[in-house]
Amino acid sequence: MKLSNKISAIAGSQTVAFTTLIQQLQQEGRQIIDLAVGEPQLDTPAAVIEATQKALSAQKTRYSPVNGLLELRTRLAEQFDGWGMKNILITNGAKQALYMIFQAICNFADEVIVPVPYWVSFVEQINLAGGRPVPVATQDHQLNVAAIERALTPRTKAILINTPNNPSGAVYPMEDLQKVARLAADNDLYIIADEAYNAFVYDGAVYMSMFDIDVARDRLIVTRSFSKSYSMTGFRIGYAAAPAEVIAALSKIQSHLTGNVCTFAQYGALAALALGADWLSARQTDLQQKRDIAYERVSRMFDCIQPQGAFYLFPEVSSVLKNNETSEALARRLLKETGVAVVAGEVFGMARHLRISFAVSEENLINGIKRIAEAL
Ligand SMILES: Cc1ncc(COP(=O)(O)O)c(C=O)c1O
Repeated sequence: MKLSNKISAIAGSQTVAFTTLIQQLQQEGRQIIDLAVGEPQLDTPAAVIEATQKALSAQKTRYSPVNGLLELRTRLAEQFDGWGMKNILITNGAKQALYMIFQAICNFADEVIVPVPYWVSFVEQINLAGGRPVPVATQDHQLNVAAIERALTPRTKAILINTPNNPSGAVYPMEDLQKVARLAADNDLYIIADEAYNAFVYDGAVYMSMFDIDVARDRLIVTRSFSKSYSMTGFRIGYAAAPAEVIAALSKIQSHLTGNVCTFAQYGALAALALGADWLSARQTDLQQKRDIAYERVSRMFDCIQPQGAFYLFPEVSSVLKNNETSEALARRLLKETGVAVVAGEVFGMARHLRISFAVSEENLINGIKRIAEAL
């Protein structure tokens, strides 16, 4: 017996694999400082837990509509002026939304442009859909629109934009988003806007969405998530917002794949939305303080561009790589020697870098970076 060629050709999520290794070391009694995490360390809000428990007690334990609870979709649609419930699909995390998007838009060998560095799942999800990821270099982690234009071919189907970016923390300015939108419109391409970190932009910036650009709207597929904004990673609630015909296509896939997202978890998401802007702004302030602590220390060691969003630093680490050491080997060396976990840049398509999360306790952040500094 043999597994399919398709599945043999893809790699499992390396960040998930690294998390398993960390858990293993912890079980062996090692005190690991985990700066590899892709989720905020702060607790899930009590109001979310209470609403979820209440929903469970009220037997909200059955199938809900495939596209998600009406109330939840209505509330989410309020963020997208002119779009309504038919433009929203609740998914098991933004991850599932993205998976279904590639399935819905890619014919065999269709190309999707992906700026580098990129979140680890994009590439394999595109491969799984039979498409071809086309990595395009950025400049100082910012979009290089000319390079994106040069990468277009008759097979290009979509341009994927992830801002704030995981892993670099780059936030793309409106001007560049507009240029990408114009390029997509001129070449009749979809724009996939992964906005999983839209709640986290720093230094007083206001989040700029592709949705704010008129010319993008009829070709735009936005994905967002409750995971990072509300510390709800385990709830698995994300959503896609898109023109109605795209949502209908995604819904067809979801109807055969998972059906609805966990019903009582969706009530938790409704409670999260009720927390309001002040609550989110407090989280943002907390993370900005941690960004400053981390950046100040890490930039003394490495060449590092200050992140304007998300919750990662992505320094260039060539100066400490021994001989032909890869950043993957460096990450393993650091984990073994210092008990500090970080993620190698290779995972994100960019060698000679490390991703360091600052969404941890201040104590862990300071001690973790100190241990790395001492070891190097
Ligand atoms: C850039 C990016 N997009 C999407 C996701 C998916 O998030 P979730 O499936 O938890 O909503 C993640 C999670 O790490 C991410 O970093």
